[in-house]
Amino acid sequence: MSVPEQHAADIVMAGVSKNYPGAPIAAVEDVDITIRAGEVVCIVGASGCGKSTLLRMVAGFETISGGSLRVAGVEVTGPGPDRGVVFQDYGLFPWLTVRENIEYGPRQARLPRTVVKERATQALDSVGLTRVASSFPHQLSGGMQQRVAIARLLANTPSVMLMDEPFGALDALTRTEMQHELQRIQRDAGITVLFVTHSIEEAVYLGDRVMVMAGGTAHGISGHVREVVTVDLPADRDVNSPEFNEIERHIDALVHAGNAHRLAPAG
Ligand SMILES: Nc1ncnc2c1ncn2[C@@H]1O[C@H](COP(=O)(O)OP(=O)(O)O)[C@@H](O)[C@H]1O
Ligand SMILES: [Mg+2]
Repeated sequence: MSVPEQHAADIVMAGVSKNYPGAPIAAVEDVDITIRAGEVVCIVGASGCGKSTLLRMVAGFETISGGSLRVAGVEVTGPGPDRGVVFQDYGLFPWLTVRENIEYGPRQARLPRTVVKERATQALDSVGLTRVASSFPHQLSGGMQQRVAIARLLANTPSVMLMDEPFGALDALTRTEMQHELQRIQRDAGITVLFVTHSIEEAVYLGDRVMVMAGGTAHGISGHVREVVTVDLPADRDVNSPEFNEIERHIDALVHAGNAHRLAPAG
């Protein structure tokens, strides 16, 4: 199986912040991270700590309120085909077939017809959907719809893949399948991935690094990065190994440390 040719880009954030108008505290405050081209970084953290906001700023759907955010050396000022986004709810066009959904981006980009066809054929093949190319999204299972969303993204040959809890609505078995699928695609394409998840296991399984965020209105503290954990494990990870569990426990403790530092007496 081949994936349409992609090229990876790095993401450099320096002091990135987001203040929504009227909000008492920043949704995201002072994020510094350099994500290397081809790296997979997962983001975990309690609800409301700014994970989606951070992802949407990289996507260009939200402006940044402060700092600098560059993808492949270029300051992000809005959405672009270099950054593909996949959400939990697939976001497919229900009135278009699977193939038409996938061809949509390349068509919008006014690529020659033969290139559009070829991109779609490759993308369909890379997610194993060739035989349902003429189906409509509603005729497919959730896992397959999510594959269409990934294929649609690949057909645009982005350099960065931004995923916001993409597998959150899938059953456990399908979710595991999709994780393997994503890993294979990521390795074939060498694409940079920023992946938000509620599952610490998923984050440790997929991530080269895991960015642990904390804060949020519920805690009265701006959303921020608590720690960036390097997952120093071999590529094919055993979720049941002691080493894997050790990293999971470390991240779990960071996520659930809550705001002890705030509540603890001074000194
Ligand atoms: N469009 C918006 N306008 C105002 N506040 C928002 C908006 N989107 C998110 N927020 C607020 O920003 C904070 C972070 O939200 P979000 O990034 O969705 O967190 P997460 O994805 O980690 O759950 C929350 O307090 C949320 O209510
Ligand atoms: Mg979110």
